[in-house]
Amino acid sequence: MSTPETYQLSEATAARFAREVAKYPADQKQSAVMACLAIVQQELGHVSRASEDAIAAYLGMPAIAVYEVTTFYNMYNQRKLGQFKLNVCTNLPCQLRDGQKALNHLCEKLGVEEGGTTVDGLFTVQKSECLGACADSPVMLVNDRQMCSFMSPQRLDELVDALKAHAAAHPIAATAATN
Ligand code: FES
Repeated sequence: MSTPETYQLSEATAARFAREVAKYPADQKQSAVMACLAIVQQELGHVSRASEDAIAAYLGMPAIAVYEVTTFYNMYNQRKLGQFKLNVCTNLPCQLRDGQKALNHLCEKLGVEEGGTTVDGLFTVQKSECLGACADSPVMLVNDRQMCSFMSPQRLDELVDALKAHAAAHPIAATAATN
């Protein structure tokens, strides 16, 4: 049986939380919840249940309200992912223009099921909801930041090769890129 994950709020993290809370009126510090979740994800690479509980306690809000935020926004990772999170849109407009094919191509190339992470820990491939760029389909998002459009099999291959090369050349920067 695995031990439940624990999370200890460090002084440095608490200081970062405090800077976010200071942006809001004193009686509305819960408004900093998304920023606090992002800070934890930067530090851990994901948002653990224990860290959500710590944020709830810090902001004086019910834990369930923090869980609701984490589960609503797919930029929050609820489990450990690869260094590169590849989210491919498979909503209907993209489905009509090879979105599913792009997802399948990536999964085949990297040898993972949808939602899976490569054994070297480099890539996690996931489907995503509409990314707001339907006309550019197939579209995908890398690490919640970099939008990639018109992802033909050739462009997908080039992207994967470029990310592998980047990770090999800059292992520390690649780790930071996940966050
Ligand atoms: S449906 Fe894919 S970006 Fe809108």
